[in-house]
Amino acid sequence: MKTTLYYFSGTGNTLAVARKVASLLGDTDLVPIAALMNTETITVPQGRIGICCPVYDMGIPVMVRSFISRLSVSVNTYVFGLLTFGGTGASALKMIDRGIQLRRGRGINAGFMVKMPGNFPPLSVPPMGSKQQSILAKAEADCARIAEDIKNNHEKRPGISPLSSLLQFLLYEPFAKNVHRSGERFSISAACTSCGICATVCPSENITIQDGKPVYADRCELCCACLNYCPVQAINLGMMFGTEGRGRYHHPDITPADLHRQKEIMYE
Ligand SMILES: Cc1cc2nc3c(=O)[nH]c(=O)nc-3n(C[C@H](O)[C@H](O)[C@H](O)COP(=O)(O)O)c2cc1C
Repeated sequence: MKTTLYYFSGTGNTLAVARKVASLLGDTDLVPIAALMNTETITVPQGRIGICCPVYDMGIPVMVRSFISRLSVSVNTYVFGLLTFGGTGASALKMIDRGIQLRRGRGINAGFMVKMPGNFPPLSVPPMGSKQQSILAKAEADCARIAEDIKNNHEKRPGISPLSSLLQFLLYEPFAKNVHRSGERFSISAACTSCGICATVCPSENITIQDGKPVYADRCELCCACLNYCPVQAINLGMMFGTEGRGRYHHPDITPADLHRQKEIMYE
C-alpha cells in the first residue's frame, strides 16, 4: 500500500526519522508541510498517510496544527502520527488525534514517538558524543519497529499521559499565541559572517539577509534551525537560561540543503 508521509523538521531529527521509516516502508512519498503553507485545502492521495513532526511545548508546531486543519481525509484512510521529541511529550500525539478527529469524525489509527537528541539549548544542553550516538542508535531500532506496525496497518491509539497533558495545558496555548514573533528574541553577534545558512534552513522563510545580517519577520516557528545550524554560533536566543556556551545540535546526516528543499519541493 502506498504511504504519503507529511513532515516538518527544524534541525533534521524529524526528516531523518521520516526518511528512515519511508525507506523501510517502500512506496512512500515524503511531502514537506512547509511547502503547503499557503495551500487552502489539502486533499490526501489514496493509501495511508502519516504526519511526522517534532514535539514543541508538549504540543505540535503551529505550522503543523494549521496543516491538519486544512486536510481533507476520508474516515477509511489509515492515518498515523509520528513524533520526534527530546524528553517528554506524549500529549502531542493527542493534539494530532484531536485535529484529525475534527477533520473526519475519527482520530488517528496509530501514534508513534521516537526519542531524539533535544535541540533547544535555552532549556537543556544538547547531548553530545557517545550520549548523542546512543540516542540515535536506539532511534534507528525504534523506526524499524514502527515501520513494521505501519506496514500491518496496526491500530495503536495514543494513550493518556497526565503529566504531559497538564504541561500542555499550561504551556502550549501561550507558546502558540506568541511563537510567530519569536524572531524578536534572537540576537546576532559580531561573529556573524553573513553566510546566509540561517535563511537557508528556516522552514517558514522568516529570515532575510539585510546589510549582511539576518533579519527576522513574523512567521517564526521557533524551530531553532537558525541557531543550531549557524557555523560560528553567532545566533543566540534570549530565553530561560540563554544559549551562549550551551552547545548546539542538528542531526548529523541532515544538511542545510536538505532542509532548504522542504520549502521548495513536494516529493523526494
Ligand atoms: C521550541 C521547542 C520546543 C520543544 N519542546 C519540547 C517538548 O515539549 N518536549 C520534548 O520532549 N522535546 C521538545 N523539544 C525538542 C524537539 O521536539 C526534538 O529535539 C525534536 O526531535 C526536534 O526535531 P527536528 O530536528 O526535526 O526539528 C522542543 C524543541 C523546540 C525547538
